[in-house]
Amino acid sequence: MSKKKVSLSRYLVEQQRVDGHIPGDLRLLLEVVARASKSISQAVNKGELGEVMGSATTENVQGEMQKKLDIIANEVLIEANEWGGHLAAMASEEMEGIYVVPNRYPQGEYLLLFDPLDGSSNIDVNVSIGTIFSVLKKPEGARGVTEEDFFQQGSKQVAAGYCVFGPQTTLVLTVGDGVAMFTLDREQGSFVLTKEHVSIPADTQEFAINMSNMRHWDEPVKRYVDECLAGKEGPRGKDFNMRWVASMVADVHRILTRGGVFLYPWDKREPEKPGKLRLMYEANPMSWLIEQAGGAATNGRERILDIQPTKLHERVSVVLGSKNEVERITSYHTGL
Ligand code: AHG
Ligand code: MN
Ligand code: MN
Ligand code: MN
Repeated sequence: MSKKKVSLSRYLVEQQRVDGHIPGDLRLLLEVVARASKSISQAVNKGELGEVMGSATTENVQGEMQKKLDIIANEVLIEANEWGGHLAAMASEEMEGIYVVPNRYPQGEYLLLFDPLDGSSNIDVNVSIGTIFSVLKKPEGARGVTEEDFFQQGSKQVAAGYCVFGPQTTLVLTVGDGVAMFTLDREQGSFVLTKEHVSIPADTQEFAINMSNMRHWDEPVKRYVDECLAGKEGPRGKDFNMRWVASMVADVHRILTRGGVFLYPWDKREPEKPGKLRLMYEANPMSWLIEQAGGAATNGRERILDIQPTKLHERVSVVLGSKNEVERITSYHTGL
């Protein structure tokens, strides 16, 4: 008898009913985000056959030239989530301020943050990209909702995940009970549970970093990468492999699947910024997933999920993945 297929909906109902883990409203919110991810996947899959490729003529608050799909994905997520009554407001890489649910809709108790299209530089070259999302609770008793309500540590997330648009479209999710992966069954149009209780090996021989930035790195990162490159003749006594997809969702998905370590460190190109990646809707959701799978995530010195945000689009250095490797890299920074 073939193994029973568990849909995302069934998994979430069980997380709600059996484990009492998630309230109904959060389950409904996650179902909406999954449906929106499916719509984004369909837009991505059109490629040149649709009006989705190439750049728009606008810049986002990060000073990045927006791709058409950045904007399309952002609109899909806003339109799918604004009317359901689970959310008070949303924040996105592609929007400067928060988007408060219009008065014509009921306001819920959750805050949704997202990177609607991660890995935009890969859109036009048919390499895996994705959508990253993070869910926080609106502070108790707050009347209305302000940007400051979003400034919560990553450890306060109630759900986090991503959907990677690659050879498969796979939704990866945690609500604090480990990490589960759901592959989109295109015939049924539903996400099917294909992996749960994902676990990352504590050691690895695979690192991910953009090597072209080497001359800009700080000493601890240079030391770590040099040791990896020295291979088994060097201090690590083993050879390393390198991967860099330049879509965080793809690099993190590989690490959740077979281990590894991912670094996007501070570099002296923009010395006043701690790095390129954004804390609220890239580093926090990815760090929670990695920790829930037994890995670790720091900014080189401290746990990412402990960082107290002060700005919606603030950046952070990221070192995440196999626990022992992250601890080694962090010790090179702290000397501990
Ligand atoms: P986004 O496309 O959402 O702006 O994010 C891109 C990020 C991340 O996905 C990836 O790890 C990193 O940029 C790649 O940076 P480089 O192009 O500098 O390697
Ligand atoms: Mn971007
Ligand atoms: Mn991104
Ligand atoms: Mn993006």
